[in-house]
Amino acid sequence: KRRFDQANRDLTGTFLFVNRVAVMMMPATTLLMNGLTVLILWVGAHQVAQATMRIGDMMAFIQYAMQVFFSFTMLSVLFILLPRVDIAAHRVADVLETEASIRDPEEPVPLPEPLTPTIEFRDVSFRYPGAEEYVLRDITFTVRAGETVGIIGTTGSGKSTLINLIPRFYDVTEGEIRISGVDIRQVRLKDLRDCIGYVPQQSNLFSGTIASNLRFADEDAPEERLMKALEVAQGHDIILSRAGDDGRSPLEAEVAQHGANFSGGQKQRLTIARALVKQPSIYIFDDCFSSLDYRTDRQLRRALREYVGGSTVIIVSQRVATIKDADWILVLDEGCIVGQGTHEELMATCDIYREIALSQLKVVVAQD
Ligand SMILES: Nc1ncnc2c1ncn2[C@@H]1O[C@H](COP(=O)(O)OP(=O)(O)OP(=O)(O)O)[C@@H](O)[C@H]1O
Ligand SMILES: [Mg+2]
Repeated sequence: KRRFDQANRDLTGTFLFVNRVAVMMMPATTLLMNGLTVLILWVGAHQVAQATMRIGDMMAFIQYAMQVFFSFTMLSVLFILLPRVDIAAHRVADVLETEASIRDPEEPVPLPEPLTPTIEFRDVSFRYPGAEEYVLRDITFTVRAGETVGIIGTTGSGKSTLINLIPRFYDVTEGEIRISGVDIRQVRLKDLRDCIGYVPQQSNLFSGTIASNLRFADEDAPEERLMKALEVAQGHDIILSRAGDDGRSPLEAEVAQHGANFSGGQKQRLTIARALVKQPSIYIFDDCFSSLDYRTDRQLRRALREYVGGSTVIIVSQRVATIKDADWILVLDEGCIVGQGTHEELMATCDIYREIALSQLKVVVAQD
């Protein structure tokens, strides 16, 4: 804490110094500039009076003097900026030069066409690069095409890690993941990610319009599809609140950086709508219903079920109510599967699931 305090004080000191100097520089240079003009006028006026110089020459001289002076001022500013530019350029270069650890295979295998969206985990274990402890251990399960699967578990049990392995944000440490029977490490990254609609736990929007955000995966998506996606994602209130009087479509409403002008729940629904516009074969929702109230959550899931058709859906959630109606549910605890089955089966057989469910039941009953 002391070191942080010290660093902050140093920074404040430096900034104050730099700004004070900058503030002093401004009047100083203006004074010098105008002083110079006055000096030239003073000397020039005498010469003009003695008829050894013409007024035009004097004016030209003033202009030249100003330009030379101004150039020197710019040069000094440049010297202040150069070190900053140097550091910034290095940082950008560092990012650009970083080699991605997840790469396309040498001889990519195409995914079957049309795709049967099955997902198969075979003895998958995973630890983060550089970490010693395994975050996931011996995960084996199969999601059949068109199924909706819920994943539940306490915080830090590895839910996000597990589903991040599917679009290959990380590669498995041991075991393999197959989509439609093909090991995902043999597929080109673009092909793999094209068939997945992923909604992250942290919603992220970009500055632009609602339409530009929704069209992120598909630039040519027609307006009706955007509206339909918003409708399924229960975005009525977003549409209503952004429908301006000037007759512009609510899709053209502005989105600030990181979606700062939307509420948490609105951001989540916009990110869900973005995935829906893509119409992929596999949907992955990482705890993205958490900011929605139970009613909206339920309506959204009902609309979603109709919308996704034959696509495979994986829903991660902390809330039993959100995943209760899934075809089956996977219970994770400390990186291991501790239960697998429907809500009723798990209530009867899985202690951890029952514990989570019972602790939430009161809320659900009250809200239903
Ligand atoms: N990038 C990372 N590097 C190292 N360890 C990580 C990283 N991300 C997560 N972990 C660790 O992996 C474990 C599982 O994290 P994960 O994000 O998968 O949990 P989760 O089940 O999604 O939790 P939550 O419900 O809070 O989202 C945690 O112990 C976490 O500390
Ligand atoms: Mg998570």
